[in-house]
Amino acid sequence: MTGNEIREAFLRFFEEKGHKVIPSSSLVPQDDPTLLLTSAGMVQIKPYFLGEAAPPSRRLASCQKCFRTTDIESVGDSQHLTFFEMLGNFSVGDYFKREAIAWAWEFVTQWLRLPPERLWVTIFLDDDESFEYWREVGVPAERILRFGEEDNFWGPAGEWGPCGPCSEIHYDMGKEFGCGKPTCKPGCDCGRFFEIWNLVFTNYNQDKDGKRSLLPKPNIDTGMGLERTVAVINGKKWVYETDLFAPIIERISDLAGCKYGQDEAIDHAIRIVAEHGRAITFLIGDGVVPSNEGRGYVLRRILRRAALFGRKLGLNEPFLAQVAQPVIAQMGDIYPELPMNQNLILGAIHSEEEKFGNTLDTGLEWL
Ligand code: SER
Repeated sequence: MTGNEIREAFLRFFEEKGHKVIPSSSLVPQDDPTLLLTSAGMVQIKPYFLGEAAPPSRRLASCQKCFRTTDIESVGDSQHLTFFEMLGNFSVGDYFKREAIAWAWEFVTQWLRLPPERLWVTIFLDDDESFEYWREVGVPAERILRFGEEDNFWGPAGEWGPCGPCSEIHYDMGKEFGCGKPTCKPGCDCGRFFEIWNLVFTNYNQDKDGKRSLLPKPNIDTGMGLERTVAVINGKKWVYETDLFAPIIERISDLAGCKYGQDEAIDHAIRIVAEHGRAITFLIGDGVVPSNEGRGYVLRRILRRAALFGRKLGLNEPFLAQVAQPVIAQMGDIYPELPMNQNLILGAIHSEEEKFGNTLDTGLEWL
């Protein structure tokens, strides 16, 4: 299945379960002082969870553009991304754990056809209710693991806000992907187990002092990383080997006159340029402009990082606008703001990259 097929299947599945599909909100959060950038699908759902606004339906589903700044330095490894798409279904005081678990299981085993024997789940320490529901759908007790707050309590997204215990689905890529230790299980960081879906049972609101109180009603907030899921389904360890990245990697390889998959140092640079090139396209498409503070600084930082890694590939002249082109071409149908703002995106990338290149060249002459 391609990225487009999985995105479409997810939304159709939840539509059939009575959800209203809503468009992704902007990467720039609206009226949310707690966040620099939209980091999860639930960001636009927060006012509904808090009872501050009425939802268009009590069952919602989306594919949300997300950006996480915490992982910038890890970009280039097999799984970490700054920009990614998150598929999610939400219940605003409607269904709760039993349905969320049963539907997640139905989707991964019947629609995505992932072999059940390769799936593990994690639950919050004392969440016996979720344990029972996973048992009901057929997950063997020995593949249900219990973890504490650090792993199985999600949120709040910013300094305060909705949060709750969670339950994750992990996929076993197979022994050949792992460390081989007898203790290797979901949670081991060797890369054998991919977390693909996080189901959050959002029943708390956490205040600035960390105090939690019950929300008006229990809610559901789930998040499935699209890029990882596409990788898992196609048996790939690297998200960069999926069709979502193929045209971008191809463009960079063409520009640099090299081939992906022959030299690890070159591949690493290509991956960083691909990831950051995609991310800056989406950031500018949502109106972020390079600056020295806030989200503008995040944009400037990753654009410069991409330009620097481009130099490692011998790309010394501005080239990133040409990396943005396949991103816009590939994603334009899903995110119309990209083709709509195409000239602005390409122009902003070019001028920022040119400025940085000049500074860099002047600096290098001084050495
Ligand atoms: N908010 C949760 C997450 O980001 C589930 O969507 O993982």
